[in-house]
Amino acid sequence: MGLHLRSLEMLVLLISFLWWPRLGSPLSNPETKPARALDATLQEYAYRAFLHPRTGIPFDGLVPPYLTGIEISAMRLRSGSLYHRGVQTFKEFRIPMGIREQPYVERLVLVYQNLGNWSTTYYPIPGYTYLAPIVGLLAYNGSDLSSTNLPELDLWAADDAITVKFGKISSRPDGSKPKCVWFDLHGQVNFTEVESDNQCSTYEQGHFSIVVESPPPAPPEVPAPPEEPAPSSRKNMPKVCTLVAIAGGGTALLVLLALLIFCAWRYKKRKRIQQLERAANAGETLRMTRVGSMRVPYAMATRTMPDLELDFSA
Ligand SMILES: *[C@@H]1O[C@H](CO)[C@@H](O)[C@H](O)[C@H]1NC(C)=O
Ligand SMILES: *[C@@H]1O[C@H](CO)[C@@H](O)[C@H](O)[C@H]1NC(C)=O
Ligand SMILES: *[C@@H]1O[C@H](CO)[C@@H](O)[C@H](O)[C@H]1NC(C)=O
Repeated sequence: MGLHLRSLEMLVLLISFLWWPRLGSPLSNPETKPARALDATLQEYAYRAFLHPRTGIPFDGLVPPYLTGIEISAMRLRSGSLYHRGVQTFKEFRIPMGIREQPYVERLVLVYQNLGNWSTTYYPIPGYTYLAPIVGLLAYNGSDLSSTNLPELDLWAADDAITVKFGKISSRPDGSKPKCVWFDLHGQVNFTEVESDNQCSTYEQGHFSIVVESPPPAPPEVPAPPEEPAPSSRKNMPKVCTLVAIAGGGTALLVLLALLIFCAWRYKKRKRIQQLERAANAGETLRMTRVGSMRVPYAMATRTMPDLELDFSA
């Protein structure tokens, strides 16, 4: 019995160990972390573009050398002006009247990002191909232009949608239907219809592009822009493999454990029978006899024997 309890404890321990990683760390979207760090970096560099800040004028910024290929721009606005007039054009974006922000700030800065050839690195979406670079629009408190690590303001269009007009997009595989893709700041992905002129609509800030579904056996696309495999998704592969391995190993371990318990139980049982047998052989009241293939103890019956003998001899 002691062995049984010990094994049960071990089983519970093993099971809880196997489940621990999943219960212990809620799977927060692992893809969003580098992208959010990039947002913070780009906010800082975009703010540096304001040498002589003028309201309502876009200022193009410079990115650090290790991010070459990314374009940034920043526009400072009075909150009231943004709400009443909107912004006719800010790169690909057209911002209508009626934009609100939360919390309220007197001045805000809209930071524009064009991730260029870094799009798939920071925003990998398996199963899709980008036809345009990712562009982002994020709103920050514009009171202090030397601020870094600013949190984004909540920004939303109350009436008309903000539009993102992608000019020329990469040619797409025949028959595939392009979709607008929108990543919000929490890493949520949403797809919407592409409007005329390769235009997408949104009621919130975030990152936008146009994608097509990649056919399962990705054919070599000649005219498509060079697409580097996303390192973060590649990094995830071993993680998945490890998880599968752990799960597989765990199952094998469980089976092994069950087998062990069973063997131990069988061994104990056989030993007890052997003990019984030995006791029977040594003792006087119990004896083993063979009934079919089983050996069972029986009491010595001395009184019936003479009757049997009598019957036979009679
Ligand atoms: C993007 O292009 C620039 C050169 O224009 C290069 O330095 C950079 O490494 C490229 N980024 C990626 C992720 O390939
Ligand atoms: C915006 O920044 C200014 C200056 O740093 C600060 O005083 C103000 O509280 C900030 N507003 C919000 C809503 O964070
Ligand atoms: C995502 O798009 C669908 C329509 O395609 C819409 O119903 C849904 O509200 C969108 N999600 C968010 C968070 O906007």
